[in-house]
Amino acid sequence: MDRANDAPAIELEQVGKVKPVLLGDSVKELEVIKDVSFCLGKGEVLALIGPSGSGKSTLLRMINRMEDPTSGSILLCGLDIAELNVRELRRIVGMVSQTPALLPGTVADNIAYGPKLRGQRCDPGRYLGLVNLETDLLSRPASALSIGQQQRMCIARALANEPEILLLDEPTSALDQTAAHKIVTLLNQLNRELGLTVIMVTHLMEHAQAVATRVALLVRGQLIEEGPAAEFFAEPSTTIGRKYLQGELTDDEH
Ligand SMILES: Nc1ncnc2c1ncn2[C@@H]1O[C@H](COP(=O)(O)OP(=O)(O)OP(=O)(O)O)[C@@H](O)[C@H]1O
Ligand SMILES: [Mg+2]
Repeated sequence: MDRANDAPAIELEQVGKVKPVLLGDSVKELEVIKDVSFCLGKGEVLALIGPSGSGKSTLLRMINRMEDPTSGSILLCGLDIAELNVRELRRIVGMVSQTPALLPGTVADNIAYGPKLRGQRCDPGRYLGLVNLETDLLSRPASALSIGQQQRMCIARALANEPEILLLDEPTSALDQTAAHKIVTLLNQLNRELGLTVIMVTHLMEHAQAVATRVALLVRGQLIEEGPAAEFFAEPSTTIGRKYLQGELTDDEH
């Protein structure tokens, strides 16, 4: 990929998304993302937070083109993702979902899937090691792992593609507290050791605080505030941000 080296990892320019929603007999156009712009530098970890239905998953899914914006543009290292080959884009931008998405076969099959599609060799044990799982799991069926192990295997599968950006949509919400804590620690470690740029959607402020260098708060599809995590958690710069952090955002506000 020919990219501008000093460009941000991700840049959103006035991104909007309108979705058709069936209401009774008629279809209504719902504006689920409204004019969102922000930049994320390389090696940053962004916690994308906001009430349920505020558009977090939609925004995340637009970054690897599982959905396309209806307006605006998204740049990756300075390049418009609309002009990139989708398969190459999804190699560079890994996605980990809320519940582990398993492919058939063993743990090794799962991890080697992406490189194999591209006709490349891959050492699955190396990636399993990166997510702190023992290599003796490699020959087990992926479905035989615990949910927490499956989620770490999914991160290893994304890492096997040597991505630059990792998107995670509530990666800990299906896990118990111990397994969730391991994922948060792992994200910190991957960011430190590999310099990965990360966007993580989360409802849990303690997870956001543990891992994020920046925070973006989305309410009703609008970016309310975006900035350094330490500043947000010390004192949000908006009233809505303060209310959200204190769990006091009322229904008519989100
Ligand atoms: N396939 C769809 N068709 C129509 N509307 C949708 C579709 N998916 C989501 N929406 C609507 O888009 C808005 C944003 O949804 P989205 O799933 O992005 O929110 P979210 O912030 O991820 O919520 P949650 O925290 O509950 O996961 C919501 O109003 C939702 O009802
Ligand atoms: Mg969601």
